[in-house]
Amino acid sequence: MSTFNLPKSAARLIVLQRIELANPFLINLRKFFGRYIFSNFITKHFLNANLIGKKYYDVMLEEFSTIEKFIENNDEIFLSIGGGVGGLELIINQKFKNNHYYFIERNYVSKKVKYGWGGMINDEAYNNLDLQKTFLKMNDINENQIKIFDYDKDNLPEKKFDVIISLLSLDYHYDFDIYLKYLKKVSKLNTRIIFDTIRAEYFKKIFKKVEVIRSDTNTVHKSKRIVCSQFLD
Ligand SMILES: C[S@@+](CC[C@H](N)C(=O)[O-])C[C@H]1O[C@@H](n2cnc3c(N)ncnc32)[C@H](O)[C@@H]1O
Repeated sequence: MSTFNLPKSAARLIVLQRIELANPFLINLRKFFGRYIFSNFITKHFLNANLIGKKYYDVMLEEFSTIEKFIENNDEIFLSIGGGVGGLELIINQKFKNNHYYFIERNYVSKKVKYGWGGMINDEAYNNLDLQKTFLKMNDINENQIKIFDYDKDNLPEKKFDVIISLLSLDYHYDFDIYLKYLKKVSKLNTRIIFDTIRAEYFKKIFKKVEVIRSDTNTVHKSKRIVCSQFLD
């Protein structure tokens, strides 16, 4: 498989989660008409789902290459925080079969997509959990491998995870502190927590081990991708 299968409605969510996947014409329409019309009208009617499926696959493959060496053959239980529709987890599952994937996401699309740093105010979302499930099942993952949790409504899963991944979400759009207590509860000694942040140094006060694995200096956020383990207290 070198592309993702997806319904058009999922393509719409994907371009909201990953704006770089929209073509330059659509990005110009967004600048011209504004974010409200872009997210509520343009993405509903002017997307080529096959093209988005292919581009999303390629981007997720590239993301996977940044984290691959931190996944071990005996890892089984993965947690994704703000993973969008879950393309990255599908790629992980292609390479390391039969794992279990827990997703914490939100079940609405913000009226006006902002893509900014919200700190402790965390009210932005671009997902639909039924569509996420449909998308995952259309792309060769078994229903019994996945569990999806609504951040706003559900009790979050209390498991000890092997790997926790949050690209362009935790500490990129909203403060790590929102999840701090929870992450302490669901981590063990060797749990690797991978996320994007603009304050990598700060996490040396939170974790015993912090490794920078990628620097994005060209983006608005100028973020770093870090792998952390072992909470200090
Ligand atoms: C910029 S998108 C990134 C999606 C995906 N990680 C990727 O790299 O393509 C941010 C995602 O975080 C989700 N999100 C926002 N607040 C959240 C929260 N408190 N918990 C979990 N997910 C959240 C949004 O719904 C959205 O899908």
